[in-house]
Amino acid sequence: MEKAFLVGERLYLRPLDECDLDRCLCWINDGEILTTLGRRTPMSRSMEREWLLGQYKDDTTFSLAIVLRDGDRHIGNAGLHGIQRVDRSAEFGLLVGDKTEWGKGYGTQAGRLVIDHGFRQLGLHRIWLRVFAFNERAHRVYEKIGFTHEGVLRESYYAGGTFHDTVVMSILASEWKSDEASVVE
Ligand SMILES: CC(C)(COP(=O)(O)OP(=O)(O)OC[C@H]1O[C@@H](n2cnc3c(N)ncnc32)[C@H](O)[C@@H]1OP(=O)(O)O)[C@@H](O)C(=O)NCCC(=O)NCCS
Repeated sequence: MEKAFLVGERLYLRPLDECDLDRCLCWINDGEILTTLGRRTPMSRSMEREWLLGQYKDDTTFSLAIVLRDGDRHIGNAGLHGIQRVDRSAEFGLLVGDKTEWGKGYGTQAGRLVIDHGFRQLGLHRIWLRVFAFNERAHRVYEKIGFTHEGVLRESYYAGGTFHDTVVMSILASEWKSDEASVVE
């Protein structure tokens, strides 16, 4: 578990490194993933490198590599963005880029580790996210983590010839049950 930052039962989260760049680039340019993240244009290698290097330049944003403990394989990224010190809020982001690993509980476990860190170590009060209504898998993951459906930005995203709703979900520190995070301390 080299450079492990947050450790769970089956996976750990570590800082992203330049050696992760090609994998991240491949995931972000996958057509299906691109749509779920709301991107319409491909990412070039230099754009993705800039994004990666920007993850630790200040304390308002960070992404971590999701790595399987079995085999030390990097399968995705998760993090908090737009961290607001006064409001003590942040936006959550999650990507399991290796599609062969979908449906095995990794997205949920990685999410729980990040949320737990946000509340217990960063002292956040509220963590929120945006998810497109058609992304039922992600919706399910967020419900399992404990996010509450907060509202809908109606027909706010145009893709595939039609307008889609964007769902806003959130979780407050008072609602977080840290014993469910599967954090290994
Ligand atoms: C969304 C994502 C993070 C989920 O990761 P994952 O590792 O597959 O998630 P998990 O295995 O922890 O949980 C998936 C859940 O969705 C359920 N699910 C799968 N397909 C589903 C569908 N079509 N409708 C409803 N639920 C579905 C699974 O059954 C499972 O729930 P369960 O444990 O109750 O059975 C991953 O698919 C991904 O990265 N997608 C592309 C990027 C993305 O959408 N990111 C989120 C943007 S808001």
